[in-house]
Amino acid sequence: MIKVDNLQFTYSGNSSPSVKGISFSVSEGEIFGFLGPSGAGKSTTQKILIKLLSGYSGSIKILNRELGSVSKDYFNKIGVCFELPNHYLKLTALENLKFFSEFYQNKNSDLKGLLDQVGLADDADTKVESFSKGMKMRLNFIRSLMHNPEILFLDEPTSGLDPINARKIKNIILEQKKSGKTVFITTHNMHDADELCDRVAFIVDGKLEITDTPRNIKQLGGKRIIKIEYENNGIHSAEFPIEGLAENAEFLNILRKNHIRSIHSKEATLDDIFIQVTGKKLINHETAS
Ligand SMILES: Nc1ncnc2c1ncn2[C@@H]1O[C@H](COP(=O)(O)OP(=O)(O)O)[C@@H](O)[C@H]1O
Ligand SMILES: [Mg+2]
Repeated sequence: MIKVDNLQFTYSGNSSPSVKGISFSVSEGEIFGFLGPSGAGKSTTQKILIKLLSGYSGSIKILNRELGSVSKDYFNKIGVCFELPNHYLKLTALENLKFFSEFYQNKNSDLKGLLDQVGLADDADTKVESFSKGMKMRLNFIRSLMHNPEILFLDEPTSGLDPINARKIKNIILEQKKSGKTVFITTHNMHDADELCDRVAFIVDGKLEITDTPRNIKQLGGKRIIKIEYENNGIHSAEFPIEGLAENAEFLNILRKNHIRSIHSKEATLDDIFIQVTGKKLINHETAS
């Protein structure tokens, strides 16, 4: 669906590139994620893929065509959720959807139903200027879906949302995948990447470090272990490898002889591996939004 080879991009006026020779491909029906900290080049890459930025080097094929030669129809086939919502503030939510739907071939006959999916049904006739940031984000998100596109480009779609609304958005993304859509998503949230993505690429300083399934990436963290807490004249804890647990005499002994308080399996998170591989943290708390 998407095949990118050796993509490089420098903003005019900048001395060094923001995207430094990245390659990846996204299959039809796949949710593919760019996971990386602020400033890594996620939004820049998405803006190139949606033809908002030109002047890149390298090759980009989307829907079997070189991106440089796609027709206007490309915009009917893709849905885009920008990092920062750009609505008409003097129009209501419904008027915004109607306005933007005019640009597309596929007209959605149930715009109110769409608003309802992200909890905005009661605000359909409210001017967007009085919307909170989260409401604007949710409106932005359904705008990307309303013309039933084949590929979705979602730039940090859950950023700044409360857990309930983030859940709604994530469920819709998963439904889109079920209906066969291809999704390119950027995030600095490892939980979202882990839950949603079939494959994740770590991006840092304009370069991709690894690309794999979240499960395979987490396994780079080494042996999986369990931690057990038990009471025996005070509270103690011990750790054991998950492999061979049923035959581990010391573990079995603790189980038999003590009051067990808790048992947890401990796996590396995408965050842990991100730091291991890139030396960088995903979230810099001073700049996180
Ligand atoms: N319009 C712009 N002009 C110049 N530099 C930019 C512009 N937008 C982004 N950059 C720079 O490009 C790099 C990547 O930014 P961006 O793609 O927005 O990162 P991310 O989305 O991963 O946070 C950053 O160093 C940023 O400062
Ligand atoms: Mg960004």
